Amino acid sequence: MPIRPVLWRDGRLDILDQRLLPLRERYLSCRTVDQVVRAIQTLAVRGAPLLGVTGAYALALEKKDPAAAARKLISSRPTAVNLRWAVERTLKSRDFLAEARRIHAEDASMCEAIARHGAPLLRGKRVMTICNTGALATGGIGTAFGILLRARAEVYALETRPLGQGARLTMWEAEKCGLRATLVADGACAAALREKKIQAAIAGADRIARNGDSANKIGTLSLAVNCRALGIPFYIAAPGSTIDLDARDGSAIPIEERDPAELSSRFPAWNPAFDVTPARYIAGIITERGILKPGDVKLGIS
Ligand code: MRU
Repeated sequence: MPIRPVLWRDGRLDILDQRLLPLRERYLSCRTVDQVVRAIQTLAVRGAPLLGVTGAYALALEKKDPAAAARKLISSRPTAVNLRWAVERTLKSRDFLAEARRIHAEDASMCEAIARHGAPLLRGKRVMTICNTGALATGGIGTAFGILLRARAEVYALETRPLGQGARLTMWEAEKCGLRATLVADGACAAALREKKIQAAIAGADRIARNGDSANKIGTLSLAVNCRALGIPFYIAAPGSTIDLDARDGSAIPIEERDPAELSSRFPAWNPAFDVTPARYIAGIITERGILKPGDVKLGIS
């Protein structure tokens, strides 16, 4: 059975509640934009490309004030630029539902194209990844995960604290797809890269700036720095909708900070959801149009 993280059914948007995975597969039924916003903010639905798809469908639920609904959706998670991109595109269209379906289908094709370009780099290799970038994060097979899948790579998945998208979601998807995967604690990243003789690392992105700096789940910067120190190539995989040509470099990317209580209910905590990996650590950015050197991002891909 394919993983279907969002489903449009009888005028409502059903969202697979990712907070419950891998223990339970339960859908939230959303009939209003506010319900979708809540699902986005609480990470029931997540992953940059899927947030775009979800935002587009959410507009189709709004009957009164689509412009206000769009503002609410765009501000619900600030870092993933795909959400803004998809909501603004849908708002300009005549038929919101038809446009959302188009965005969903296009994202699925982009995932396949990304996998086609990236798989030859990672075929059969031992590859570390972070967060979840698969079907639970996109409209298709995933970005970085899609490449791992098509490459039949041996996956080492960082747990991705504090919310465990690697431990709960990537491991679950790998199991479902029959992909060999081993879970690694975030703190064991450098040791695993060295001891397990990891040959490459790959991550998704939530926003890529003009100069190739890439924001992704917190911990990605550590992974990239460790890879550089150990001479291992580090790749980013993302569709064109993740590139923000208005952001000159990583410093222009807003970084979402989440509730410190997600880390500790007792002690003061700092809980950024994302970090920015400077372009110089990235060996290549794998898009639906091919593999870009980070310095070529400014040329765009369309
Ligand atoms: O906070 P999340 O779970 O939405 O963060 C997701 C990530 O950082 C992913 O790696 C990124 O969105 C790319 S998903 C194809």
